[in-house]
Amino acid sequence: MFAKINSLGLMGLNAFPVEVEIESSRGIQSFDVVGLADAAVRESRERIRSALRCSGIEFPKQKIMVNLAPADKKKTGSVYDLPMAVAILAILGLCNEAQTGSAAFIGEVSLSGEIRPINGVLPMALLARQQGLKEIFVPFDNAREAAVVEGIKVYAVESVAQLVMHFSGRAVMMPAAPVRPEAPNYFGNLDFADVKGQYMAKKAMEIAAAGGHNVLMIGAPGSGKSMLAKRMPSILPKMSFEESIETTNIHSVAGLLDKENPLVTVRPFRSPHHTVSAAGLSGGGSIPRPGEISLAHNGLLFLDELAEFNRTALEILRQPLEDGQVTISRVWGSVTYPSSFILIAAMNPCPCGYYGHPKRKCICSPKQVKGYLNKVSGPLLDRFDLHVEVAPVEYAELSSKDKEESSEAIRERVQRARDVQLERFKGTDITCNAQITSDILHEVCELTPGAKEILGKIFNKLGLSARAYDKILKVARTCADMNGDKEINERFIALAVQYRSLDRKYWGQ
Ligand SMILES: Nc1ncnc2c1ncn2[C@@H]1O[C@H](COP(=O)(O)OP(=O)(O)O)[C@@H](O)[C@H]1O
Ligand SMILES: [Mg+2]
Repeated sequence: MFAKINSLGLMGLNAFPVEVEIESSRGIQSFDVVGLADAAVRESRERIRSALRCSGIEFPKQKIMVNLAPADKKKTGSVYDLPMAVAILAILGLCNEAQTGSAAFIGEVSLSGEIRPINGVLPMALLARQQGLKEIFVPFDNAREAAVVEGIKVYAVESVAQLVMHFSGRAVMMPAAPVRPEAPNYFGNLDFADVKGQYMAKKAMEIAAAGGHNVLMIGAPGSGKSMLAKRMPSILPKMSFEESIETTNIHSVAGLLDKENPLVTVRPFRSPHHTVSAAGLSGGGSIPRPGEISLAHNGLLFLDELAEFNRTALEILRQPLEDGQVTISRVWGSVTYPSSFILIAAMNPCPCGYYGHPKRKCICSPKQVKGYLNKVSGPLLDRFDLHVEVAPVEYAELSSKDKEESSEAIRERVQRARDVQLERFKGTDITCNAQITSDILHEVCELTPGAKEILGKIFNKLGLSARAYDKILKVARTCADMNGDKEINERFIALAVQYRSLDRKYWGQ
């Protein structure tokens, strides 16, 4: 006898269709799996045998061969337990082609016959729908995640026994209710209103949020760098539904989704500790898991105490910062994860923290200061669009009762500027000014004659690099968008240049 059950596999973020073919014939009782299956997949035979027994079903006393097609794609993990169990049910005549032909099955089976949750259900459900399948049977705990996908019926399976009852018509399961994304919003309680003074730094944060720019903050301990960065999520623009799905996909593969609210609708904020490994940052493992830079996709990556990070880990950031994605290679192939994020980094200027401080004396030797700053390489430094010196706030400011601007007010301006950008880049892959590619840079960054002149002068005087020049134009573009201006005038150029003067002060460039 022969049967075929649809399933899905996952390679990185990409789901692929898998057919579980089963053939039974008379002969010595056996159960074999072929089709480039790893150890976990081969172990599923034992789980399935036990699960069926515990569900009161006698395992067929036949020679059984399962093939996972296509045979040239590596199959890993436990997702194929459920489709293989269903294939056995088909051999036993407990379900038929009419019931399973337009359905996909994914899930791990426990020894007692319960269906356990798996990772990566969202990308798999999206592919099932794209393949024209009408139904998908998933573990109960993953059902809300799959139900985000429109146009496919999602069945939440709790156990093998339940599925048998469903197919027999004795207790038919109902599809899970569709999950519609909630209105994206910021629900945290950290607000920019708590930060006294620091107008330059706050403005930099606003520009960064509006145009998707990377920011480096440098300043003495206690000047409020961490405080500022932690408030960034409160002013980020809304996430579009597409962005939401992209980010949810990554979190799904990493197994980080919330069971009840599976769709990521608020931009992620990731702040790995400085002891994070290179693999933790970029992604790794024999079957590569997304790293922090991918978990931060469409959101923020905050690296506090930048100079304390492992240098190799930091250098790995360079390529993703340019490309918005990271590729991890393994002997059997490679996976690519998106990693387009705003990078916010904070650091002290020297080991003691007081180099360049207006009042306190730095106790480090010039060599120590240089060594500390040089932990951040030139190329990495170049990838920050905005450099801000965060000086300690004056007592008068700290003790003042004046109300500071709230995050909500800032967020409104950010959103307006972002809307201008979305309109400008409609029909392209670009979503914000930071992503402007060099081929359209001059077309979208139109300068007034005055701005052209001043930029030319600055360029020659400061000896800017080509990359710094691009960054200045992009940041100035964002400043103009925040002001609702079509052309970039000299004021916006001056502002952008001002945010690039720190590297000369500290790194002597
Ligand atoms: N501008 C500010 N307004 C209000 N409180 C501040 C400000 N700057 C610093 N503080 C206070 O100092 C503490 C230390 O700031 P923090 O952000 O941790 O400094 P850093 O990261 O620069 O070392 C904050 O938790 C806050 O209580
Ligand atoms: Mg800090």
